[in-house]
Amino acid sequence: MGWPFLGETFGYLKPYSATTIGEFMEQHIASYPRSIGGILGKWSMLVLVGDMHRDMRVISLNFLSHARLRTHLLKEVEKHTLLVLSSWKKKSTFAAQDEAKKFTFNLMAEHIMSLQPGKIETEKLKKEYVTFMKGVVSAPLNFPGTAYWKALKSRCTILKFIEGKMEERMKRMKEGNENLEEDDLLNWVLKHSNLSTEQILDLILSLLFAGHETSSVSIALAIYFLPGSPQAIQQLMEEHREIARAKKQAGETELTWEDYKKMEFTHCVVNETLRLGNVVRFLHRKALKDVRYKGYDIPCGWKVLPVIAAVHLDPLLFDQPQHFNPWRWQPNLIN
Ligand code: HEM
Repeated sequence: MGWPFLGETFGYLKPYSATTIGEFMEQHIASYPRSIGGILGKWSMLVLVGDMHRDMRVISLNFLSHARLRTHLLKEVEKHTLLVLSSWKKKSTFAAQDEAKKFTFNLMAEHIMSLQPGKIETEKLKKEYVTFMKGVVSAPLNFPGTAYWKALKSRCTILKFIEGKMEERMKRMKEGNENLEEDDLLNWVLKHSNLSTEQILDLILSLLFAGHETSSVSIALAIYFLPGSPQAIQQLMEEHREIARAKKQAGETELTWEDYKKMEFTHCVVNETLRLGNVVRFLHRKALKDVRYKGYDIPCGWKVLPVIAAVHLDPLLFDQPQHFNPWRWQPNLIN
């Protein structure tokens, strides 16, 4: 339906408020436009099904294990947060979304490929990635000058960069340096998987995309929602001041897992931001065979799109769902 070739892609891509489920979704049941698979790669987890999807997911989840989050990611989060905060000049203004993107890109680039913030190669990759992202959310018109065309070119440049890093590491491994100093995703897949080069490249790019886009939008949304609730800002500051005070007393400086667990109200703010912000509005599933689920028949080939945003904004589940209320997540209030 809609325009020839383009169908209803523009309607699908039309921006809408994060706190609604969107006009297009209200009127249609939609699926990803075809551009997603073309641009994220055929080995991207968003496109894969069956065993291959499971294998890729296991690799990603192993790397992002709970233990690693404690030992590695927490330290990196602290480092990159301090870096962004220290770059802010007193009384200057900044765009929260840009700062959040800078933070998550640097964090993911370090976690995935040990790239250091501010280095020429990291900044060049970031520039290519911005062009790439514009194409992921644009109409799939592949001719010179369009955002999609530029994004496909950036995709090639990014993949070449990652491949260069891979070759460098493999060369060092062959030279007998088994224990490479970088403890990142790239090393992990080289050592623990037997994926082809093409598969590794798509996996790395997909994870950069999955981790960067979602987290940066969530951080920016928290900054957007919080000024609407001065009481929440006050409580957040008190919680963090108390943790900082206790650490100072104990002579500690680095953030620990114990500190993270003490951030109870902060977790409520995170949950409420994710609920009201609806970073991922809906999921995509396709029945590969006839399925009977809870009394519903889903014929083979049908698409099922669970709309997470509809659940998050359901007044039967959340009192005053449009209201930013972190306290609703306090453990004693959750049934
Ligand atoms: C606020 C931040 C995030 C949100 C809201 C989010 C949201 C989601 C959602 C809704 C899914 C399920 C997709 C589906 O089943 O169709 C998912 C899967 C996944 N996410 Fe995230 N995510 C976030 C952060 C991250 C980060 C930081 C990473 C990794 C670096 C990551 C990696 C993945 C992976 C590997 C999957 C599994 C994909 C699959 O099995 O197909 N995500 N995420």
